[in-house]
Amino acid sequence: MSNVAEVPPSGPLCLTGRIRVEVDGEIVADTDDVALCRCGHSGNKPFCDGSHRRVGFDDPGVILGGRLVPGRTGDDTEVGAAADSPEPVLIVCATNGPLLVRGPLAVVASDGGRSEGTKGALCRCGASSTKPFCDGTHKEIEFDSE
Ligand code: FES
Repeated sequence: MSNVAEVPPSGPLCLTGRIRVEVDGEIVADTDDVALCRCGHSGNKPFCDGSHRRVGFDDPGVILGGRLVPGRTGDDTEVGAAADSPEPVLIVCATNGPLLVRGPLAVVASDGGRSEGTKGALCRCGASSTKPFCDGTHKEIEFDSE
């Protein structure tokens, strides 16, 4: 089973596969289908609550910059960029920061652009210039992930 994060225009990150989401060291979702906020305005972070429509989040859903890279998974197993691996992907929600990818994942943009790997940082503040990846802007805007 592939782990995939689709990036629809002006919408959330739509993840399918074997997805685990971690907040403050706790697994808050262990699922095959979840939508995570990337506009920064959900009242139920890290999950999408539809606030992107209310705030007029405007993003083409293409890869503006950044990428996933091969790396080691949480159990220290080298898995390269095998996004079709049966391994789960762990999404670690950094406090006031991005969604950290730990495990095999393919990011698929609305124009078909792809980035595959096992490590990376996905923007969830809505302000990155390299969406869907984090460029550190969350610090400048003092993103509050609570
Ligand atoms: S989380 Fe948006 S720039 Fe880092």
